[in-house]
Amino acid sequence: MSEDFYEISLGNFDTETRRRSNLDPVLFWDEQAKKLSWFNQWTKTLEWNSPFAKWFIGGKINASYNTLDVHQTTRAKKPAILWEGEDGTNRTITYADLYRDVCKFANVLKSLGVKKGDRVTIYLPMVPELPVAMLACARIGAIHTVVFSGFSATSLRDRIDDSKSKVIVTADVGYRRGNSVNLKEIIDDAINELNFVEHVVVLKRTEVSLLLGTKDKLWHELMRDSSEECEPEQLESTHPLFILYTSGTTGKPKGVLHGTGGYLTHLNSTFQWAFDIKDSDIFFCTADIGWVTGHSYVVYGPLLHGATEIMYEGVPDYPSMSRIWDIIQRYGVTIFYTTPTALRMFMKFGDSIPNSFKLSSLRLLGTVGEPINPEVWRWYFKTIGKSKCPIVDTWWQTETGGMMLSPLPGLETIPLKPGSATRPIPGTDITVVDEQGNELPSNTKGYLVIRKPWPGMLLTLWGDDEKYKNVYWSKFENNYYSGDYAIKDSDGYFWLLGRADDILKVAGHRIGTAELENSLVSHGDIAEAAVCGIPDEIKGEVIVAFVVLKQNAKKIGSILRTELIETIRNGIGPIATPQQIYFVTKLPKTRSGKIMRRVLKAIASNEKIGDVSTLEDGSAVKDVQDAFTELERTVRENKS
Ligand code: WTA
Repeated sequence: MSEDFYEISLGNFDTETRRRSNLDPVLFWDEQAKKLSWFNQWTKTLEWNSPFAKWFIGGKINASYNTLDVHQTTRAKKPAILWEGEDGTNRTITYADLYRDVCKFANVLKSLGVKKGDRVTIYLPMVPELPVAMLACARIGAIHTVVFSGFSATSLRDRIDDSKSKVIVTADVGYRRGNSVNLKEIIDDAINELNFVEHVVVLKRTEVSLLLGTKDKLWHELMRDSSEECEPEQLESTHPLFILYTSGTTGKPKGVLHGTGGYLTHLNSTFQWAFDIKDSDIFFCTADIGWVTGHSYVVYGPLLHGATEIMYEGVPDYPSMSRIWDIIQRYGVTIFYTTPTALRMFMKFGDSIPNSFKLSSLRLLGTVGEPINPEVWRWYFKTIGKSKCPIVDTWWQTETGGMMLSPLPGLETIPLKPGSATRPIPGTDITVVDEQGNELPSNTKGYLVIRKPWPGMLLTLWGDDEKYKNVYWSKFENNYYSGDYAIKDSDGYFWLLGRADDILKVAGHRIGTAELENSLVSHGDIAEAAVCGIPDEIKGEVIVAFVVLKQNAKKIGSILRTELIETIRNGIGPIATPQQIYFVTKLPKTRSGKIMRRVLKAIASNEKIGDVSTLEDGSAVKDVQDAFTELERTVRENKS
């Protein structure tokens, strides 16, 4: 843990908010919820039927009303989204534009038969039509389920099938690193056998003509004839707003289900507290809307506050390492929120690139998604923030809906310690416990748990209450299990130490080992597979796979390796590409047959293996070790 600390004040010294949150958290959230616009007041703030929470029961609300209608008198001409395409094209979308398009698309959805509670899968790249489609769903009470446009047809099919969406929204193409990806083709492949899908709305981004099937409709044609008037549905506070699929420890992705009133309350407050948002700010979050950070802090958080934000279609290092700094300079970005992976990459390329841009508009910086190394934190602070911007290291999860641990310069001034997400947000109860669930003394590594319900928490897993209970509430009685290791230091600051379960964080993306292993064994030559993450200087973690071939395997060596990589790219998506694949004759397992990933990880990272007394067959370790040594030698020889 680093010893240095930094104190940067933005002039906010509100001790009252924390004091009130400590006195009575439920009453505190009641007060926070009143900052939103409700059609009618709730009768009960929280019903906690552990582990199911219902916030603001009886209250009626609409997410699109709170992000759009409320701004029409004061901010209609204010830009909501300053969009920049990967190719440098720009679009400015004002609050009036967004409101009009959302109403029109809400009417389109209605005309396609979408009703309150129906699911709509959105598979779009980072274009303004993506938030338009989400908010249109919210307007009529349909549940949006956005799938990251880097996912392949198989992952997409699983998600559409689980949610039973009858309408899909997509585009002809998306652009990634200069290549165009034919999204429509991927959708066609994914829904091939899904008869419940009734319509596919296609946004055309190119002039290339499209062969339209019977289910296909074109976005611009539907929008042309659609009315601009659409009354927002008055929805129960607990009405589901969206499903977002995320990797879990089993092969099947989990549909994390979020409600409306609680989720919006959580975002409205955390967005203000963490980012100190002002009407004059230009906010820039680099997350893709396909992940939770994009849902919460590109779509709902900034728009609730009537903020102006940048939406960039591409990845941070394309077309060059200077793209992000160039955007910050050109638009005068004041608040910048990104990932440790992006920062590690920028840092590696040296100070001269960011130093050649004018970054003086920046006044606040943030990170999310993975632990940030103290040296990277200091670099961010000095080189990007010029030692004048606080950094908010925000810890949270798809399941928590919004930030849970973070410095809150919009509220209070506290010393920042590089590498620590500091303290819980007001109105939450978070601590570190041992295997038995006992609270640990300071400076002791344990599991991060949440002891009281919070407004942004997931309602359940879509269609699977039992799994919801098992995954999050069975390890510790009445405590939410986050799956993360952490330490709380003697000042009450939290230090996140990575996942305690079988989930990997590769460049901030959440990928389950089981999903990867299922994909590998779907190849006809593979009998068994095990994957683990090993530390990587830039991406935090990279994927390493160990596979056992079937006896009658037809292919071997580099040909098979290439095929397996293709299998994963087609089965999950390019983000899940393993960095290395090792062929072994057996995998290290416990006596009960569980693969010991710890052993694989230790070998692949060249660390000491530790206690292997529970191993089924000690020779498996040697096998893995031999395969690894062999491969390392081959790689070395190929390089020299
Ligand atoms: C990790 C992303 C350390 C953590 C918002 C968590 C972090 C998982 C941080 C959730 C942080 C997120 N410091 N680790 N500031 N933020 N994580 O669902 O392991 O994609 O459990 O949500 O990311 O990933 P998810």
